[in-house]
Amino acid sequence: MEDKFSAALRQTAQLMDRELDALLPESTNPEWQLHDAMRYAVLSGGKRLRAFLVIQCADLFDVAREYSVPVACALEIMHTYSLVHDDLPCMDDDDLRRGVPTVHKKFDETLAVLAGDALQTLAFEILADPKTHPSGSVRAELVRKLAQAAGGHGMVGGQTMDIYANASEISVPVITRLQQLKTGALIAFACEAGAILGHAAPAQITSLRAYAHDLGLAFQITDDILDVEGESTEMGKATRKDVDAGKATFVSLLGLEKAKIHANMLAGQASNHLSIFRNNADLLRDAATFTVQRKK
Ligand code: IPE
Ligand code: IPE
Ligand code: MG
Ligand code: MG
Ligand code: MG
Repeated sequence: MEDKFSAALRQTAQLMDRELDALLPESTNPEWQLHDAMRYAVLSGGKRLRAFLVIQCADLFDVAREYSVPVACALEIMHTYSLVHDDLPCMDDDDLRRGVPTVHKKFDETLAVLAGDALQTLAFEILADPKTHPSGSVRAELVRKLAQAAGGHGMVGGQTMDIYANASEISVPVITRLQQLKTGALIAFACEAGAILGHAAPAQITSLRAYAHDLGLAFQITDDILDVEGESTEMGKATRKDVDAGKATFVSLLGLEKAKIHANMLAGQASNHLSIFRNNADLLRDAATFTVQRKK
């Protein structure tokens, strides 16, 4: 039988597919090629874990789903843009994503760059839309936090480090920063968005930030472990690429076994940060376990 967490994640993914379909531009305009590429990238699946985190963190504060769901969509759109650009030949040069050809393979590089650009701005458009939240200050805070998480001191900064880091020279503090920025920052936004929507108290914000910090790192370390041990067919993307590309990862630095211990330690620590929310945070604790036990 499907456990509670798996059912909740599956329901979130189904909800996201419906809501994202409605938010993405139709492919009927003269610039239809762009909209085709955007829809293809966003609607080709994905675990939707970031959306799940937004919704579950907002649920801690009884935020109405009509507010948390659009924010979850905006984050999944931003995340998808990061994947489209990450797969480009000038970055990781990947042909397969979410079990289907990457956007530049299915369309071309120009459309992959442009679709990524348009997805990024669409994410902000959704957050700034009065339909997303009636409070202008809540919307402005969401826009500001997502800009910080995605930008030069967030995901894009981390991607820069990822491309230019030298695997043979990297240290634990530097790889921690790299992963924290390239992957952790958007995951941290997911949790923080729930707190912003819920007008969380300072102690609650501190707990969620600590949870997200450890979860984000555990998530990327697991991604790096799966690059070595995972199955491409299951993951929907190429594996065994990081070593050939000379990527600096926790696995390249510590080896597989120590990387696994580190990821598990972080997942346990992430769960412990949620004690203030008692049983209400059980699904978020399950999300931490899932993050390190997943096979895709
Ligand atoms: C992949 O993220 C990119 C990383 C940050 C490691 P996910 O593993 O969440 O990808 P999807 O959204 O499920 O496809
Ligand atoms: C990507 O990390 C992180 C992003 C910001 C997109 P990876 O390059 O390891 O992600 P995958 O393995 O291609 O999904
Ligand atoms: Mg990459
Ligand atoms: Mg990649
Ligand atoms: Mg990877």
